[in-house]
Amino acid sequence: MGHQGAEGLPPHVLLFPLPIQGHVNSMLKLAELLCLADIHVTMLVSDYSHGRLLKHANIQSRLARYPGFCFRTISDGLPEDHPRAGDRAMEVIPSMKTVTGPLFKAMMISNNCLASENRRPVTCIVADGVLGFAGDFALEKGIPLIYFHSASSCCFWSCFCLHELIEAGDIPLKGNGMDMLVSSVPGMEDFLRRRDLPGFCRVNDVADPYLQIIKVGCKQTPRAQGVIENTFDDLEGPILSQIRNQCPNLYSVGPLHAHLKARLAEKMKSSTASSNSFWEEDRSCMTWLDSQPSKSVIYVSFGSITVLTRDQLLEFWFGLINSGRRFLWVMRPDSIAGDNGDSQIPTELLNGTKERGYMVSWAPQEDVLTHPAIGGFLTHSGWNSTLESIIAGVPMICWPYIADQFINSRFVSEVWKIGLDMKDTCDRLIVETMIRDLMEARKDEFQQRANQMAKLAKQAVHEGGSSYSNVDRLIDYIKSMII
Ligand code: UDX
Repeated sequence: MGHQGAEGLPPHVLLFPLPIQGHVNSMLKLAELLCLADIHVTMLVSDYSHGRLLKHANIQSRLARYPGFCFRTISDGLPEDHPRAGDRAMEVIPSMKTVTGPLFKAMMISNNCLASENRRPVTCIVADGVLGFAGDFALEKGIPLIYFHSASSCCFWSCFCLHELIEAGDIPLKGNGMDMLVSSVPGMEDFLRRRDLPGFCRVNDVADPYLQIIKVGCKQTPRAQGVIENTFDDLEGPILSQIRNQCPNLYSVGPLHAHLKARLAEKMKSSTASSNSFWEEDRSCMTWLDSQPSKSVIYVSFGSITVLTRDQLLEFWFGLINSGRRFLWVMRPDSIAGDNGDSQIPTELLNGTKERGYMVSWAPQEDVLTHPAIGGFLTHSGWNSTLESIIAGVPMICWPYIADQFINSRFVSEVWKIGLDMKDTCDRLIVETMIRDLMEARKDEFQQRANQMAKLAKQAVHEGGSSYSNVDRLIDYIKSMII
């Protein structure tokens, strides 16, 4: 795969995320970190993700400061009007396998692996862990391959053990002794229950196509030359050690959003927050927060995919109102599904917010979480949200919805003890009680531990920290590929 005249040109990394907000967001942060080290980056995103980024994130002008950065786009195989949310969100995984896979191969071959006058052919592929076809291509062409896991390492590690979980009879999971401890995920024997396993395990049949894709994909991970995890050693150290036994060339580089900010501040004397939002951010909530007392507000957001039924919405609503707390609630326009297909926010809710609540359809979340008025986060436990809350020192109430979120919430409550887990329940009394616990009765203990973890997270991404030195090591490794 040689290219005439490539000598002297920097390495060229192809980054390829799954077209979901959390995945694109974190991989774009990694892209910027590589650009800061003068590495050429091609970010291959779905047409859908690209459209959202251009429309809402002002991305073109921000990334223009990196001459080595460019976007390429590809179809994710889903029709334009696909909801891409709720229980249909994960349909993108099989669709990318069947539709995007062949397109990707054809694109790479016909474009001489994306070489141009000023760019080498791709020297390294960094692919989202679930995009096995990108790994197949890299191996076939002898291009170094690194997998990127935008979800938690505890999720990856439990998925790596899916074969053993199936053998042990823990999966299929549906209605199957949900509170029993599982014993076949090394390092989690003391606290991981069946109900805490990633959402892919909630199936009736082990032949389920999603479960199979994840199982095969994870087991193939050691074929890559390296693995990047968006986490940090003080958070998931014991799990990272387990993974390292299988994949020794491991780079834990997170929390990536904070890491990028730290490097920008160091290199460019600017730490301008970089939004990679798929929706328009409503910054009016920051002004509202300015007028609220310190640590008085609970921030409520269920990420980019969650869809609430009308009943669930009302349970959360009454729980919040009955708790007597102030709240800031993100309600995406596509996040409510009524039994009758009615997706409008009930007017009684909108009217009822006037006193103590504020609602937006999308918030500048990183800024919200670091605002002094925020004292708690009612979250779906998406991995980016979890990391953003951890580094901001905000304790959480977790209501996991899909995928890794079920195991993330277990770690929040049982391992790190920086929040409460309400998985598999949606009841106004539980919501109210948990808010009172988090923000009043047990406020000090949660806040103290959250502060400790926030301090460790900050140390990790600054000079001398574990994630900081791992990014340096990753950059050296990528540069060594062309020597
Ligand atoms: C998906 C999966 O749901 C999640 O489990 C997995 O860990 C990553 O991919 P998503 O629903 O997008 O994630 O949640 P999350 O990972 O938390 O990412 C959401 C991102 O959107 C965060 O970076 C958050 O800051 C941002 N966000 C969310 C906003 O900027 N504004 C909002 O109002 C809500």
